[in-house]
Amino acid sequence: MQISVIGSGYVGTTLAAVLADAGHDLVNVDLDEEIVSQINDGVAPIFEPGLDELVAEHAGTQLRATTDYDDIADTDVTFLALPTPTDDEGKIDLAAMRAGSRSVGEILAEKDGDHLVVVKSTVVPTTTEEVVVPAVEEASGKTAGEGFDVAMNPEFLREGTAVYDCQEPDKIVLGVQDGAAGERALDTLHEVYEPILADHDASVVETGLREAEMIKYANNAFLAAKISLINELGNICKEYGVDAYEVADAIGLDHRIGPHFLRSGVGWGGSCFPKDVAAIIHAAREKGYAPELLEAAVAVNERQPQRLLGLLDTHTDVAGKRVAVLGLAFKPGTDDIRESRAIPVIEGLIERGADVVGYDPVATENMREHFPDIEYADSAAAALEGAHAALVTTDWDEFEALDGEFDAMADPVVIDGRRVIERRDGLTYEGITW
Ligand code: UDX
Repeated sequence: MQISVIGSGYVGTTLAAVLADAGHDLVNVDLDEEIVSQINDGVAPIFEPGLDELVAEHAGTQLRATTDYDDIADTDVTFLALPTPTDDEGKIDLAAMRAGSRSVGEILAEKDGDHLVVVKSTVVPTTTEEVVVPAVEEASGKTAGEGFDVAMNPEFLREGTAVYDCQEPDKIVLGVQDGAAGERALDTLHEVYEPILADHDASVVETGLREAEMIKYANNAFLAAKISLINELGNICKEYGVDAYEVADAIGLDHRIGPHFLRSGVGWGGSCFPKDVAAIIHAAREKGYAPELLEAAVAVNERQPQRLLGLLDTHTDVAGKRVAVLGLAFKPGTDDIRESRAIPVIEGLIERGADVVGYDPVATENMREHFPDIEYADSAAAALEGAHAALVTTDWDEFEALDGEFDAMADPVVIDGRRVIERRDGLTYEGITW
């Protein structure tokens, strides 16, 4: 199939590369010339395991990037994988979606024959019907269901395992309109995903447009709230001297709870959970509903880094002292620092007058843009040397192997927000919930 993907972010690039690898012909459209030439040179524009290999293999043959929207005219399907950030109040910003939809519409005005427009981005319920469809209709002069069809197909990929999640999804959610237009859209989407479904057994959920939009938010809100709940229970465990991980492992044996996503710690970050929980809270409030449980999930998440800092305060006054922050990425396997819990931790240390030295295997340059004035080390060992305390904010595997490196600390105090360091003799160790 001839497929176009608008947007070369995490979702767009991964989707384009995976669908090219599945045998389709892909055009990836982005306005950023640098990103476009990078993809055409066979280099992934983001750090994501396995993506470089796919882009290198298919660039120039089945995968082509361009800044020119005209190229979507020759494709059968266009996925909109544009950013949907939130403002300070949590309100979703649909400017990129509107502009992208209009640009697609302008091309469809000149095109004869069927075309399916698929919303991939995370958007609040009714956005496809009330924002995307009107923008495409206005620019194309055509009517949804007649001149073109529309679908909503959310993405559930995680950073760090994006390629795997895209190639081997748990589920594929296909939201379509009622009637013949919906049937046509489903047929096209089944053809798009046929090679992936042939190799891998995923559930396919066929549903409405706004249901598909809500499924994405419900999925992320549920997971974020699940972590906040285990963090809250972990905080109570800590007060009683109970090991929160033992408790989590035991409750996870109840199949209604499940063993996954029960790691208590310094909280959730990333580009999805904070943005999506904020957006659905804002959207609910606009409808007159107060989503108190989700607001509490956010409040617990904001409290966790402060609890980590509070534990540090019980051991030492860090004013004027060197303090190591181990892990800057919002989770291991990525260089993404968006909403990383290391950010409020570093802010708290700066407020306390500490000399902060950060270390991360891949995210240092991104954090340097955020905090240009703190020190950055080339290794965990270098960060620990001479430090009066170390705070662990990301569960990178390499931290588990640290051992003799603690001997070089001026004061061997470790406050662990991710349970990666083992308790050992000579180390003053505090876990955030254990
Ligand atoms: C998430 C969703 O998992 C994915 O389905 C969606 O499409 C995008 O958002 P991602 O943000 O890449 O993916 O990361 P994820 O692995 O889900 O972790 C999110 C945050 O939760 C991280 O900060 C992680 O450290 C934290 N987390 C996760 C915990 O604190 N405890 C856990 O048990 C699991």
